[in-house]
Amino acid sequence: MEKFNAAVIGAGGMGKVHVDAALASEHIDHLFVVDPDPERLKLWKGDPRLSGATFEEILADESVKFVTVSSPNHLHLEQTERAMRAGKAVLCEKPMGNTLDEAKKIIALEKETGNFLQIGFELHYSKLYQIAKEWIDAGLIGDVVNIQTRYFCSESHGKNTWRSNSPEPGFLIGEKLSHYLDLQRFFFDADFESVYAVAAPKIVPFCNHEDNHQIMTKFPGGKVGVLNFVMCIGETWHDTETREMLEKQSDDGHALEYHICGTKGAIETDVFRRRIRRWEFTDSPSTLESRIVETRTFSKEEDQTYFHNVYGQDLAVIDLFAKGKKSEMNSADAYGTMKLCFAAELSELDGKVIESSDPRL
Ligand SMILES: NC(=O)c1ccc[n+]([C@@H]2O[C@H](COP(=O)([O-])OP(=O)(O)OC[C@H]3O[C@@H](n4cnc5c(N)ncnc54)[C@H](O)[C@@H]3O)[C@@H](O)[C@H]2O)c1
Repeated sequence: MEKFNAAVIGAGGMGKVHVDAALASEHIDHLFVVDPDPERLKLWKGDPRLSGATFEEILADESVKFVTVSSPNHLHLEQTERAMRAGKAVLCEKPMGNTLDEAKKIIALEKETGNFLQIGFELHYSKLYQIAKEWIDAGLIGDVVNIQTRYFCSESHGKNTWRSNSPEPGFLIGEKLSHYLDLQRFFFDADFESVYAVAAPKIVPFCNHEDNHQIMTKFPGGKVGVLNFVMCIGETWHDTETREMLEKQSDDGHALEYHICGTKGAIETDVFRRRIRRWEFTDSPSTLESRIVETRTFSKEEDQTYFHNVYGQDLAVIDLFAKGKKSEMNSADAYGTMKLCFAAELSELDGKVIESSDPRL
């Protein structure tokens, strides 16, 4: 198969993973990196397969077939639009844009150009959640009726960054929690009907937006998804620690767990304990018996593959494009999650339940 050139736009924290994955792809010959910060490129100094370029040079270069957009969110629409209009396939980081209108423009663009476009919801490629989905699809826990998600972390966005400076009250719902609301859609295999969300007074003084969100979502058939997100409680990580990070975070206030309850059993995913478990419910003469019937763990070397598989997502997405296959998360699908995120923000602002038919969505 013929190799092609690719580009990564924005080589910050996430862009670094996109660059490493693109360099590891068997389909990619040369990789260009676009970033206004010259320091970023130094990371790969000496790699002959990588060089810096301007965005305009990428657009004009016909050998560049695949572009990953990994810049701050307010640039996603413009960069994705220009790349797709120049005939490139695009992998765009979530969220597609800063507003639902921007996201709608990307959906229209995908239809109009017919180009390959995938939105970066890499948890679909993460083993922990793939196993949960396989167990659900195999009917092992019956009909999924209730999904509880608990996410407690430390403040890690820093002072005076594009994240902490963002003034939209619900910024973190789209930026950080979209992954976890998206997985509720993935596990229920449905779009939401209505949502009610509240945020307590914030703790992080320099955040221009809320730093906690409690989001309760109704899915078809009376099914319910709950997401509890609190920042700050997890102990701050310092690089000088000798203790292994996840092992420490498993008991320092961090939590990232799903409890997926079905009519015949349940599943628990637990990032900080590196574990996925399954329960089976049986009707006994005196009670509804619940038994843990399966437990799988993973090693620290498998962390990325199990719960944050951007690298694996990128290899799979580049492979899909190279083989002329369809995107596995197009803009219309990603919009379902974005709509839920914005509905939750509206609910917090209005203090009311928001229906998915709300004309503002
Ligand atoms: N999928 C995930 O799990 C995940 C995780 C983190 C971040 N993200 C997303 O990835 C994107 C980048 O986040 P990050 O954490 O890497 O941010 P970051 O601030 O670490 O990096 C952003 C980079 O973009 C560069 N940049 C700024 N303006 C640019 C321009 N005009 N053209 C090209 N590059 C430009 C900056 O110099 C910086 O290097 C965001 O959209 C974020 O939501 C996704």
